[in-house]
Amino acid sequence: MMVCEYKPGLEGIPAAQSSISYVDGQKGILEYRGIRIEELAEKSTFLETAYLLIWGKLPSKEELETFEHEVRYHRRIKYRIRDMMKCFPESGHPMDALQASAAALGLFYSLRDLHNPVYIRDSVVRLIATIPTMVAAFQLMRKGNDPVRPRDDLDYSANFLYMLDEREPDPLMARIFDICLILQVEHTMNASTFSARVTASTLTDPYAVVASAVGTLGGPLHGGANEEVIQMLEKIGSVENVRPYIEDCLQSKSKIMGFGHRVYKVKDPRAIILQNLAEQLFEKFGHDKFYDIAQEMELVVEEKLGSKGIYPNIDFYSGLVYRKMGIPTDLFTPIFAIARVAGWLAHWKEQLAENRIFRPTQVYNGLHEITYTPIDKR
Ligand code: CMC
Repeated sequence: MMVCEYKPGLEGIPAAQSSISYVDGQKGILEYRGIRIEELAEKSTFLETAYLLIWGKLPSKEELETFEHEVRYHRRIKYRIRDMMKCFPESGHPMDALQASAAALGLFYSLRDLHNPVYIRDSVVRLIATIPTMVAAFQLMRKGNDPVRPRDDLDYSANFLYMLDEREPDPLMARIFDICLILQVEHTMNASTFSARVTASTLTDPYAVVASAVGTLGGPLHGGANEEVIQMLEKIGSVENVRPYIEDCLQSKSKIMGFGHRVYKVKDPRAIILQNLAEQLFEKFGHDKFYDIAQEMELVVEEKLGSKGIYPNIDFYSGLVYRKMGIPTDLFTPIFAIARVAGWLAHWKEQLAENRIFRPTQVYNGLHEITYTPIDKR
């Protein structure tokens, strides 16, 4: 067998062939099925983009209406899932609640039929439809309230915002939220997608695939960074404190949250769109002083780390958008999951189409031929 060089983090090593999305990290380009995200953010909706990613083409009007109808119809969660969630500790992180709930959903659909397109479609619809309901239900139940029933007259994003606090959202907010989901839905072979594909390659069910990916997304180096950005802005507190904060981070070699990316060596194109969305929200609903701190951070980080290709990533501005919508900080990553589930499912489908179980190798650097030492001699 060919011996390859070990690359920590598998940097630069292709883990799959995929036609779902494409990134050019030098030029700052991201495409879903060949379409630039800027165009999708302007003209598409989250559900239409999800359809594009999963089924490989933009839907016709009728196909889109059918898909939207199916998702709407499956939004309610089973009372047994809701009762299970009620038993979760209120202090637990919503990502853990989501991971457990997504896995539990699989208990109800244990007849795996991975060669059946109907099974694939039903699973896709069910997961896209119920994940937002689970996130909203946990949010209300941890405050001691009953979950709010989904509203059939509201579209996907407006309904999620409504379920969070039982108030119909402002239309601009709902549209901006929907664009955020479009921006977060897919991003080539990132950690959680890799996790989804590895799990999928064992031919387990899609609920296990999504649960494993949710677990991977939660870490602070991946989707969890958006929460940490807000905590960092809170800690910095004022524009004057930005420079000393960054200098401290550089000296102590700690990472500045919301900056840097394995692939992008320029500003993440999603961060550019999100920054613009944040500005639209500030114009309508009032300024946020955290935005001034963020802008100053961008300038100072560029000055200090621009030569290394460290610029804002998606998580830098998404938190500011969600904060302006009044969404609690620890729901930012579950919202990332609401979007990314469609990307994971597109990869699940693609993995199944040409499956071979993932079984990489390792570079063993341990000992050999060691004899067993009895316990009283150690
Ligand atoms: N702050 C300060 N220095 C940084 C940062 C940062 N945020 N990111 C990278 N660097 C430096 C790093 O110290 C290293 O320097 P040197 O070569 O001198 O040792 C160099 O840049 C390469 O960094 P790395 O950690 O080897 O790069 P990576 O590709 O393994 O990690 C990353 C990518 C995103 C995990 C990393 O940039 C990071 O930890 N960023 C902060 C966390 C964050 O914002 N994560 C969200 C990522 S985007 C969305 C997502 O994936 O969900």
